[in-house]
Amino acid sequence: MHHVPERIVLVTGASRGIGADVASKLADPDTHVIVNYREKAKRAEDIAAAIRNAGGRASTIGADISDEADATALMATIEARFGRLDALVLNASGGLEMGADPGYAMRLNRDAQRRLAQMALPLMPVDGRIVFVTSHQAHFFPNKAVPKGYSAVAASKRAGETALYAMRAAFSRAGVRLTVVSGDMIDGTIIVRLLQRRDPDAVAARRTHGTLPTVHEFSAAIVSAVTMPSPPGIVYVGGADYLVTA
Ligand SMILES: NC(=O)c1ccc[n+]([C@@H]2O[C@H](COP(=O)([O-])OP(=O)(O)OC[C@H]3O[C@@H](n4cnc5c(N)ncnc54)[C@H](OP(=O)(O)O)[C@@H]3O)[C@@H](O)[C@H]2O)c1
Repeated sequence: MHHVPERIVLVTGASRGIGADVASKLADPDTHVIVNYREKAKRAEDIAAAIRNAGGRASTIGADISDEADATALMATIEARFGRLDALVLNASGGLEMGADPGYAMRLNRDAQRRLAQMALPLMPVDGRIVFVTSHQAHFFPNKAVPKGYSAVAASKRAGETALYAMRAAFSRAGVRLTVVSGDMIDGTIIVRLLQRRDPDAVAARRTHGTLPTVHEFSAAIVSAVTMPSPPGIVYVGGADYLVTA
């Protein structure tokens, strides 16, 4: 008989970077990790294969989550295959890409996050988890300066976080827990390399506050929000100076 694992987890944007590391860390025989990607099918398949090689269970589903039809098909596939979703990790994000239209950041970082949470909720059991991944630059927006070129992304991710908070009553009625995991700039990532090119002083300024967190540290915090009993509502990774002067 087809074995349905105990926990079904969807990680959006898991074909690279932090999402890929989160997916890999979730590898476990009793967890099925759904590795979502937008374009990079091969990379996503490699992540899923690595999870299976480590004794876990995983599959990939391509979907541009900013596209309503794609997002709907993603959730319909999960419902048809598994009948439920235990955790939704809202990791995929964007807007810094060259040539992205001005509305794209809001469609992806706010509208798509809210829509996925709404569609996931009826599939989630009591103690289901929704984890929203964000940056300090977005979480504290507009109260703190952001690197040049990052304000549209910061504003849209902040709006996404606020949209999820507005759904808190529905989450709590369903017994679903929302955790926001906010990180300082994460060392070695593509985003920090892009910001470094556009505003080297802003990146240098963050480094004066201490060593930037690693992908491993940030993704471990995200995984904990999925797996630990009674996770907190918010988790901060790095950037202690943000917290004392907020
Ligand atoms: N990097 C940092 O310094 C930092 C710091 C704090 C917080 N964060 C947060 O951590 C999260 C991950 O960041 P990252 O640095 O790992 O990002 P990244 O390297 O840019 O990776 C983004 C991932 O999201 C996917 N994606 C992009 N647009 C998508 C869409 N429309 N639909 C579905 N998937 C989409 C990409 O898939 P494809 O490859 O297929 O396009 C990729 O897998 C984000 O929420 C970010 O705000 C990052």
